[in-house]
Amino acid sequence: FFSSVALAPDDPILGLTDAWLADPRSPKVNLGVGVYYDADGRQVLPESVMRAEATLTARRRARSYIPIDGLPDYDSATQRLVFGEDCAAAAEGRVVTAQTLGGTGALRVGADFLKATLPFAKVAISQPSWPNHQVLFRAAGFEIGNYPYYHADSHGVDFDAMLAALLAMDAGTVVLLHACCHNPTGADLSTAQWREVAGTVRDRGLLPFVDMAYQGFDRGIAEDAQGIAILLEAGVENLLVANSCSKSFSLYGERVGALSLVCASADEARRVRSQVKQTIRANYSNPPTHGAALVATILGDPDLRAQWEEEVGQMRGRIKAMRNGLVARLAALGHPEFAFINRQAGMFTYSGLSPAQVQRLRDEFAIYAVSSGRICVSALNEANLDYVADAIARVAG
Ligand code: LMR
Repeated sequence: FFSSVALAPDDPILGLTDAWLADPRSPKVNLGVGVYYDADGRQVLPESVMRAEATLTARRRARSYIPIDGLPDYDSATQRLVFGEDCAAAAEGRVVTAQTLGGTGALRVGADFLKATLPFAKVAISQPSWPNHQVLFRAAGFEIGNYPYYHADSHGVDFDAMLAALLAMDAGTVVLLHACCHNPTGADLSTAQWREVAGTVRDRGLLPFVDMAYQGFDRGIAEDAQGIAILLEAGVENLLVANSCSKSFSLYGERVGALSLVCASADEARRVRSQVKQTIRANYSNPPTHGAALVATILGDPDLRAQWEEEVGQMRGRIKAMRNGLVARLAALGHPEFAFINRQAGMFTYSGLSPAQVQRLRDEFAIYAVSSGRICVSALNEANLDYVADAIARVAG
C-alpha cells in the first residue's frame, strides 16, 4: 500500500534541530528554530510559570475534557491580551476566541474555517514569510499568492510595493499580516503604515488574518498588538488573529495558542463560534488542559501577571543586547554593514547571508541557521558570540 510513498524533505526549521542534535562536533550552535534561551544558553521556565505550576499542582485538579473551544478563563484572558482591556468589539460580544494547539493550530483552524466559509477566496502571504504559512494554507486547500514585503537593500519594509499589491487584490482576499517581530525579516510596519494598511484593507474589502506569535518581544504587550487595534479603529468589520503563548510564556511544547475572530454582530459571533467548534471537533476534539491553565492562572493574578510582564521584558532586553553584541563584533571584524541588525525587531535577524553562506556556517563551523539567512538572535550569548561573529565574518568574505 505504501510502496509509492515519496520521501518528504526535512522541515526547513524544525529539521535543523534534528540535524544539530545529531552533529557530534563541538562547539556547535543552533541558530535555527525560534526559541528563547537564557544568558547561559539554557531553555528555562519563567519564574511566573513555575509559580503558576506550583499553584495548579497544589489544587490536584482532575483532568477532564475541557470545552471544544478551550478553557473559558484562558479564552477570556487571552482575548484581553490580544485586543486590550477596552476593546469595543469584545464588549459588544463580537469577538470569538478559541484555545488552539499553539499558534500553528490557530492558523490551521482559521484556515479550515475560512475554506469552509469562503471556498473561493485567495490567500496572500508576505514575501518572505514563515515557511509554514504556505504549507498550512495550501494543506487547507487554498490558492496562495504573495505580496512584496521586504526591501533587501534597506533591510526594511518595501511599503510602497506592499500597498500597491494590496490595492490590486481582489475583494475578499485573505491577507496574512504579522502583528510584530515579522518572521523571518524582523522588519515591522510603523504606526503610520499600519493605519494605511488598515484603511486599504477596509476600502478594498480584504480580510486580514493577523499572526501574533511574538507579542512582547519588540516593545511590550500592548504596543506589539497595536496593528490589531488600528485595524479595528479603522472600522475593519471582520478579522482573524492567531496568537501563540509558545515564546511569550516559554510554553513551546505545551502547544498553547488561540484563534480569535472579530464578527459584525454578537449573533454572527455565535454562529461563527459554532462553526469553529465543529472544525476543532473534527481535528482533535478539544484542546489539552495544562498550558492553558498555566496562562489563565498567570493572567488572572495581578502579581503573577506583573512578574510575567517583567520577565518578558527581560527576554526582550537580552535579545536586544545580543543584537548589539553581534553588530559590535562584526564591525570590529571589518563588517560595519551589519549595523541593520540593530533595527530589526524580535527573535530573528534576517542576515542577508545566502543559502551557500549558511551552508558554509554549518559545514565549517557547526553553526545552524535557516537557509533563508534567518538567524535566531536569542540563541546567542556571551559564550558563543565571538565564535558566531567570527564565523559570519569569514563566510561574508
Ligand atoms: C520558528 O519560526 O522558528 C518557530 O515559529 C518554530 C516553528 O514552528 O517553525
